[in-house]
Order: sequence, then C-alpha cells, then structure tokens
Amino acid sequence: MIWASGWRLASAVSNAGGLGIIGSGSMYPEVLKEHIQKCKAATGKPFAVNVPLLYPNIDQHIQTIIDEKVPIVFTSAGNPKTWTPVLKQHGIKVVHVISSSKFALKSQEAGCDAVVAEGFEAGGHNGREETTTLVLIPAVRSVVSIPVIAAGGIATGRQMLAAMVLGAEGVQMGSRFVASNEASSHINFKEAVIHTKEGDTQLSLKKLTPVRMIKNKFFEEVQAAENSGSSVEALQNLLGRGRSKKGMFEGNLDEGELEIGQVSAIIKEIKPAAAIVEEIWTDFKNALKHPLL
Ligand SMILES: Cc1cc2nc3c(=O)[nH]c(=O)nc-3n(C[C@H](O)[C@H](O)[C@H](O)COP(=O)(O)O)c2cc1C
Repeated sequence: MIWASGWRLASAVSNAGGLGIIGSGSMYPEVLKEHIQKCKAATGKPFAVNVPLLYPNIDQHIQTIIDEKVPIVFTSAGNPKTWTPVLKQHGIKVVHVISSSKFALKSQEAGCDAVVAEGFEAGGHNGREETTTLVLIPAVRSVVSIPVIAAGGIATGRQMLAAMVLGAEGVQMGSRFVASNEASSHINFKEAVIHTKEGDTQLSLKKLTPVRMIKNKFFEEVQAAENSGSSVEALQNLLGRGRSKKGMFEGNLDEGELEIGQVSAIIKEIKPAAAIVEEIWTDFKNALKHPLL
C-alpha cells in the first residue's frame, strides 16, 4: 500500500506469520532499494513487493527487485503480460491483482502463479465494474485453476473464513493494516480510519483511475466537478500532483486523498501489526469451530 507499507510494516507482518508486502508505488527507485534491504535485515521470512504496472520508473523497480532477489512480486493496475515473463525468468513468483474474471483469466494465461481478486469494497484503486468481493470470488474461482487470494472488505478472521468458503486460498488485507503502529501513514490518517463509519467512503474519480477514499473536502470537490460534467483534463488539474501523499503521509485530512476501504467502518483500534495478525488468526480458528453465529 502506497504511503503505508514500507519495510517496518512488511517485516512486522512477515515476522508474525503473514506475507508482508512493500508498496513500491510511492517510492523512488533508490528508496525501494533501501526498504527491501531493511526488510531483509528485519525478517528472515519471505516478503513481497507490490509494483503498480503504471509506475513511471517501472524498469528500475523491476531491476532492483531482481538484483535484491525478492522472492514474490504482486503486480497491479496494468497488463500482466508485460512483466510476468521477465520476473518468472528470474525465479520470482508473480501474483497479479484483478477485479474481474476476464482479467483473472488473462493473468493465468500470462503465467501468473496466483491472482488477488479485489472487490469493490477495497481501499485504494479499484475496478470500474464495481463487482463486490462476495460475487467476484466465486466468479473468478470458476474460471481459473491458479490460487485465488481474496481482497476487499476483509479485516477479521471470520471474514477471512467467509472468503475461503467462497473458494479463496488466502486473503489480502489492506485497510486493517493501515491502522497499525508500523504503517508509515500519518497518525491523522490512521485516526481518521478508526473513526470512519459505514457510508463514509466512496469510489471516486471513475473518469481517471477509480479510487475508494474517505468523503472529505477534496472528495466533495471531485464530486462537484464530476457532477458538473468536468473534462478529464479538468479533473486531472484538480487532482494535481501528490494528493495521496498530502493526505495519507502528511496528514492533511481536508486537501489530501485518503484511500481506505469500506471495512474501515469496523476497524476501531490502531495496534501493532503482530497483534492484528494474531487476533485475525484466533478469530479465524473460532469461526472455523462455530461458523454460524
Ligand atoms: C492506503 C492504501 C493504499 C493502497 N495502495 C495500493 C497499491 O499501491 N497497490 C496495490 O496493488 N493495492 C493498493 N491498495 C489495495 C490493497 O493492496 C488491498 O488490495 C486492499 O486494501 C484490500 O481491501 P481492504 O482495504 O478492504 O482490505 C491500497 C489500499 C489502501 C487502503
């Protein structure tokens, strides 16, 4: 996750038994290298790097990942055909994030080892089709034979079990770990996340790249512009540069873009990542014993 998962969060999650993922989308190439090296020093367990395929310096990121022998890469926001063969040639496992069955199949055809099927509830950039996790998981499961990792709207062990009942082999959680001590996000943003209520987030900027965010002042400006039929250029000007950094990293809750999922409505506490992993695991085991409440 941009502006949230650097080496501290990724290594804490890996040390706790999950698979920590460094979000390279907000990092300059030399910053990514530093985070990978620090992550390796902080954990002996596997970890991954996420590379949004639209990233401008992607060649440099991929080279760093290869040089640093990162074992697993999660690609997102782009065509999996371009980089999957390159990464696989270097023995790297590739998981691609999709929001439709069509792209799940394309990922499988491109040689990906697994897909993350991310539903409409999810925080951050998202599919235009608005397919929810509950619908997406069985739909994707029925068209691919590679493992399916469910994402979007999952923050508890019971939700994890539900996703697995629908055919997922694993889950990817974002929002829950934004509200962790180790996330590099600004404390103002973390506090906003735990005070978010149902209905406080919405998918916006559908004309550009759709993103789910908190309905703050910036969101209202985007809505007003979209409702008045603003052009793509006008929206791009309004978005400007560095909006997500301003909101999530610098803590400007009015002017910044605050990416978070619907599930923030049930996240009530900022905790160490290891405590979150442990809580999810305990809840999962209880839910498995007593699936029906
Ligand atoms: C603050 C934030 C930043 C994110 N950044 C990225 C990103 O850079 N690349 C990516 O593939 N997904 C990104 N995501 C999506 C997450 O990886 C994950 O799939 C999503 O949060 C799952 O849904 P949830 O928020 O309901 O847990 C981001 C999510 C959040 C909340």
